[in-house]
Amino acid sequence: FDTPQDAAKSLAAEVAALIRSRSAENKQVVLGLATGATPLPFYAELIRLHKEEGLSFANVVSFNLDEYCGLPHEHKESYWYFMHQNLFNHIDIKPENVNLPSGMLADADIPAHCAAYEQKIKDCGGIDLQILGIGRTGHIGFNEPGSDDTTITRQVHLDDLTITDAAPAFGGKENVPATAITMGVATIMGARKVALMAWGDKKASIVQKAVEGPVTIDVAASYLQKHPNASFYLDSAAAADLK
Ligand code: F6R
Repeated sequence: FDTPQDAAKSLAAEVAALIRSRSAENKQVVLGLATGATPLPFYAELIRLHKEEGLSFANVVSFNLDEYCGLPHEHKESYWYFMHQNLFNHIDIKPENVNLPSGMLADADIPAHCAAYEQKIKDCGGIDLQILGIGRTGHIGFNEPGSDDTTITRQVHLDDLTITDAAPAFGGKENVPATAITMGVATIMGARKVALMAWGDKKASIVQKAVEGPVTIDVAASYLQKHPNASFYLDSAAAADLK
């Protein structure tokens, strides 16, 4: 696509069609959602579709990919805050249908929470469409290099490059949480459809590795080459290194 806005509009139109077709059958849609700068134009378009074109999210169940450990809901960098600020507060999704990993658990309680998160995704029938961004480490969710395709929801350490990229928002690297809870590569691969968005020249090199490089544990997004229904939504800058 020429611009992020063009790409985001196209993906949002697909999502709207999915939501409407399921709603016509009185069925739910399960969406996997991402945070970060990348999906902002996509969420803005979903909000516009709700406000101007009557798109209802009443039949949508959402599962976010990840959450930082140690951040309460009201922390401005928590993903709970981000999702409410940038999407949920502006649409008619039911609060009880919104799911994010908890960032405020004692370490000992995290494994059971992660297992329950996986189970809830299964109980909802699995993810129909998983929205993704990509980090410069090749992470999807917070599946940093070293995350293989058997990984499920768990606590992870963030890569130094990921912490560096997050530092400005936190006012310095020392304020960025060292760990997060993230869906695993296997959780993401279990979605029936995957849509990854990436914009700008800073993502061009990792997008090339993910799409055209070997499938490798060093680039979690490269596993998507093995997914039967995965698409990348790129602006021309992010696509610039593709052969
Ligand atoms: C966010 C997430 C991450 C981001 C990635 C890109 O929930 O799981 O994988 O998608 O770090 O972040 P931005 O979009 O800020 O460049």
